[in-house]
Amino acid sequence: MICLSLTRDTVSDDLEDVRRNREWIDLVELRVDRLSNPSAEAVARFPAELARAARGTGAGPECILTARRPADGGSWDRSEAERLALLSRAVSEGGFRYVDLELDLSGSVEGRTLAESARRAGTRIIRSFHDLEGMPEDPAALYRELSAGEGEIPKLAVTPRTAADLHVLIELLIDSGPRERIIIGMGPVGFPTRVAAPRLGGYLSYASASLNPDVVAAPGHVTPRMLAETYRSREQSQDTRMFGVIGNPVLHSASPEYHNRHFREKNLDAVYVPFHVDDLRAFFDTAARLDVRGLSVTVPHKEAVISYLDETDESVPAVGACNTVLIRSGRRRGLNTDVPGFLLPLERAIGASGPEAFDGMRATIVGAGGAARAVVFALLRVGVRLCIVNRTPERAERMGAEIADAVGAAQPVVAELGPEAASLIEEHGSLIVQTTSVGMEPEVSADPLAFYEFRGHEIAYELIYAPEQTRFLARAAAAGCLTIPGSRMFEEQALAQAAHFEHII
Ligand code: ATR
Repeated sequence: MICLSLTRDTVSDDLEDVRRNREWIDLVELRVDRLSNPSAEAVARFPAELARAARGTGAGPECILTARRPADGGSWDRSEAERLALLSRAVSEGGFRYVDLELDLSGSVEGRTLAESARRAGTRIIRSFHDLEGMPEDPAALYRELSAGEGEIPKLAVTPRTAADLHVLIELLIDSGPRERIIIGMGPVGFPTRVAAPRLGGYLSYASASLNPDVVAAPGHVTPRMLAETYRSREQSQDTRMFGVIGNPVLHSASPEYHNRHFREKNLDAVYVPFHVDDLRAFFDTAARLDVRGLSVTVPHKEAVISYLDETDESVPAVGACNTVLIRSGRRRGLNTDVPGFLLPLERAIGASGPEAFDGMRATIVGAGGAARAVVFALLRVGVRLCIVNRTPERAERMGAEIADAVGAAQPVVAELGPEAASLIEEHGSLIVQTTSVGMEPEVSADPLAFYEFRGHEIAYELIYAPEQTRFLARAAAAGCLTIPGSRMFEEQALAQAAHFEHII
């Protein structure tokens, strides 16, 4: 179920959020602490107003009542006595399906009285514990305490910082079934527990009406629409196959949008989740536990992941990087779809494919970092003569020698990035590939090849995909060159990955 947390100043703004998100939500959580000056009467009236606002749109949504204290990540700024009085009054009117009561309340007379009146009113108790800073010392013991009340739904919402923390939460979530339960990892590391909650056995996923920091209810929330449409949260079950991307950071990655859309279009019961990973060993324990079938690998793990692979295709050791892992019966196989992902748009631009298409070609590679390696490998293998220009020529020298040796090709010529390299670039001017990070958002006016004047016969290939048109590409296009933007390589490598994922489902 998808639950929209209502965090506006006024009930009417909250109801407006409900209307706008109606098609993607099953229930709402009224965050009384976010209302300005809430009265017990107004809160007690809320379920009726909610039903009126949602009239004509089918059943529900049901409502959770919460007044969160600052220590739990909320903004309640009056006394605890006032909070309990308000909750008690609102619950006794009987309109709320659930009330969120913190664990410590079960230790006080007032808290037990409140729970008793909730039970009498037919309101289910969500027994919660929140930690916005980190993890409890013993999550399993804490979870047992949260689960002690009969008929209550335990809710553990904490902040994992490492892949090992996430592993603990995911094990807890999976192992504590079939009881209805809510176990949430807040923040970037915990993100999978939100977007894959139904797959992991979670009772519901919380969402916010907007990602604007003034509106978002808790770290890591996405919108109900993202849960429903991108992650197909309502269609997930324990049988849904799992895929993902590992990176650090990773939440800005375009891959979840791409791969989840692909699964949706192909009608495949699979979900693709971003994993913010600091420690590959701990992550692969989680991947095994979740029966993850395939992974995209991004910065900074493309090199380090190689030592966790059981087998690879020929490009992985030569490139020294792996961007795709397929897992079958526990065996991890590494591939590099950056290689075909780079070549295909180029072959399309030339209008031919295969080694003959590259006959006599001489190309310049700008940059010698991680992104350049797949490009150098791809071009050397099809027989292109290369020149690599880099700010640090020694790095280019080393990379060129390593990959040429692995492929059995001639060593690339190397030069320092700067005006002195212009004549070498001219000699290797059939194709110029820009692989550095120079010109990437937000530094969009930077151009690593500003000193070079395009003649118009070069193919200019950019690896940066944000912005779509870099200064480098714009100058090349203005000179009459054929240009290939970075989005092409992104799409092709993702498409190649998607085809592998589809096979392994
Ligand atoms: P990636 O994996 O994206 O390729 P990387 O491995 O850090 O990232 O490589 C970045 C590339 O951009 C390198 O070629 C780097 O040059 P150095 O090898 O000299 O570091 C290049 N680069 C980054 N910032 C640059 C700048 N301001 N001017 C010129 N080149 C730059």
